[in-house]
Formats: sequence, structure tokens, C-alpha cells
Amino acid sequence: MGNMTRPDKQHPETLAFNSQTIHAGNSVDTSSGAIRTPIIMANSYALPEDPSNMSWSGIETPIYTRNTGSNQLALQKKLALLEHGEDSAVLASGVAALHAIFFTHLNSGDHIIISSITYEATWRLFTELLPVKYGIEATFVDVTDLDAVRAAVQPNTRILHVEAIANPTTLVADIAALADIAHEAGALLSVDSTFTPPPFYRPIDDGADLVVHSLSKYINGHGDAIGGVVTGRADLIHKIKADAMVDVGGAISPFNAWLISRGSVTLPLRLAQHLATAPLVAEFLEADPRIAYVAYPGLASHPQHELAKRQFGDRGYGAMMAFAVEGDSDTQNRFVANLKLITSAVSLGHDESLIVHVGPNGPRVAAYPEPFKKYGHLRFSIGLEDPADLIADLQAALDETFGPRA
Ligand SMILES: Cc1ncc(COP(=O)(O)O)c(C=O)c1O
Repeated sequence: MGNMTRPDKQHPETLAFNSQTIHAGNSVDTSSGAIRTPIIMANSYALPEDPSNMSWSGIETPIYTRNTGSNQLALQKKLALLEHGEDSAVLASGVAALHAIFFTHLNSGDHIIISSITYEATWRLFTELLPVKYGIEATFVDVTDLDAVRAAVQPNTRILHVEAIANPTTLVADIAALADIAHEAGALLSVDSTFTPPPFYRPIDDGADLVVHSLSKYINGHGDAIGGVVTGRADLIHKIKADAMVDVGGAISPFNAWLISRGSVTLPLRLAQHLATAPLVAEFLEADPRIAYVAYPGLASHPQHELAKRQFGDRGYGAMMAFAVEGDSDTQNRFVANLKLITSAVSLGHDESLIVHVGPNGPRVAAYPEPFKKYGHLRFSIGLEDPADLIADLQAALDETFGPRA
């Protein structure tokens, strides 16, 4: 006991994760005495007596909210700590954060290797937008095939971008192996970790250079704010702030930064509940013959189940899954319409469970596993409701759609 370090909220880097989510980025407000960091709804900050030599593109001292502001600074400090990075840049949305990485760290003529399974906006950035607008070359690869990733490397490859658990198929990427490939190629590994928030997983510990989250999801957790973050080495993040935040302008509002700071206080408690409930729901679905398939990394039937076990240890398998009921598109819609507790809406990682029916057509589907092509999919974000209530809702909707199970 004699050598035990005394915890100190003024030095949150010394605290355990559960304490960091409460105390990092929060302090007594010296002007009011309030024990919670207030929302500073200012877009401009007082200048020093002699501002004549200031950099108007500076990002360290608040001068204008697009350069930085009080609530952004607090959130950045907290998220860098939680993610094991040196610094973070918080931006207006997850998409703004993704774009900021690519805009900042790719130049015209550079090449990116990108997972063939990603969130739709990321996919569109590299199928339609950045190659045409900025002359960036992109190769889409099945990142579960490490030889294919190695084979895609070119002399001008600068970034390898993947999702730790991919939206929507739940493909699991081997981050340590992909980091080795990227680094051998002299490239950065960028990981969208939106489905795998800390402390469940931290890609930086496995060698990722940049980690991006849609803060609109688990980290805020309450479905009431939009934001994004990139975390990583200080020099890489500094450049993102200077180039993409100040000069492109996807700054987060102080109010959203504050909401996300507050939401993230309960991240470890919420995540524990999400991670405990998801396998129960996935097992229930997989056991029902009216269900066509379930894609969830925690099931032994998932193609990367062993990798997920190794990579995520005993912490769980996430709380996102995709499945379909037996039947055509109308049947999927009828099933969703029969759900009374689970809400049909986009987004994920909220307190409430969300489901969205995505049909089997469209250009992205070519890279999806066979059952996704045949049935489409229901992307399912397991919320914080009691598992028994979720299972009862699914069971009743199946009975209403198909008649009671024989
Ligand atoms: C994996 C992933 N990355 C990024 C985003 C984009 O985040 P935002 O909606 O905050 O822009 C999403 C949104 O669904 C997502 O699922």
C-alpha cells in the first residue's frame, strides 16, 4: 500500500479509464465556481494587447472557434487520453473527420488502399469525389485478404484506411497485421473505430497511426449531437487542425462539443451494457429458423470470429450486427414495421436500439457476403434496453410476420 499512487483529477492521465471519462477535460470554472466546464457559446476570443504578430491560422490559443475554442479543447484533451493518442482534432461530424484525414494527408497523385467495406460516405469519397476532384488514386481491397492488401501497395501509397469492425457487414480487420503492411510501405494506417469505441478497442495500441470516430454514435451515446474526431500522433493531428479545420472549416459547435463531453462520461457503463446484451440478441436471432442469417463477430459462424477473439480479448464483440429474415424486401419491411420497441432509423450507438433495412441492390453490394446480396440486410444497433425486452420485441415481430414458430 505504501507505494500506491494517489489519484488526482488534475492529472487525469494517471487515472483509470472509468475515472478519466468523468474527470478528463472537466475542471472547476474559475469565473463562476461551477464544477462542470460550462458551454462557452462565443465564436471569438479576446486578443492579446499586441496581436500584430499572431498567426490567424493558429490552433493552440482560442482566437476564433474555427481555430479552436474552449469546449473543443476540453473534448480533444479527453478523447486523446481515452484513445491512447497524443492529440485529437474534433470536427463537425464523423464525415468531416474522415475527409479531414484524406484532405490533409493525401496530395494529388497519391494512392490510398481502402477497405471494400466501409461506411457509405467513405466509399463515395473514393469512388466518386476525391479521385475526380483531387486526382487521388484509390484501390478497394478485401482487407481480410492480407496478401491482396500487400499486392495493392504502390510506390505512391500514402494511406491504408479500414474500419475495425466494418459498416455494415461487421467484417473485422486485423489491425496489427495491417499496420505492419502500411508501415513497410511507408504509409499511414487510418482506422475508423466508430463501431469499436474505447475501452473496448484502441487501434493505436495495435499500431494504427490515425483513429477516427463518428462521435454522433457510441461516444456521445444519446443520439442528440453530431461530431467527429481524429486521434493520433501530435504532428499528424496538428496538420489536420491547421489544414482541414482552420482552412476547410468543419469546426464543431461548442454546444455539440459540450454535449459529447457530457455523453462520454457514461461511455464505459453504457458500453458494458451494449457489449453484454448484443451476444444474447445475436444468439436468439441465429437460433430462429425464420432468420436467414446473422452477421455478428461474437458468433462462431462469423468468418473472423477467431480474429475478433484475439483482437478484442475478453472485452466483447461490439454491439452492431446485420441480419435478415427469410423472405423478400417486402417481408423485411413488414418485419421492421411489426417491431414496437426497436426504432426504424439510421445512426447507431444510441441509448435506444435502432434498425435500418437496406436492400440488396446498389453498387456497394457487390463486395458484400452472399446472404447480404440475396436478402439485403437489417443493420441493427443494440441499445441499452433490457435484453429480455429486445428479444420479446423481435420474437413478437417474427410471430406477426410469419405466424408463430412451429
Ligand atoms: C463507421 C462510420 N463512420 C463514419 C460515420 C459518419 O459519421 P457522421 O454521421 O457523424 O458524419 C458513420 C455514420 O454512420 C459510420 O457508421
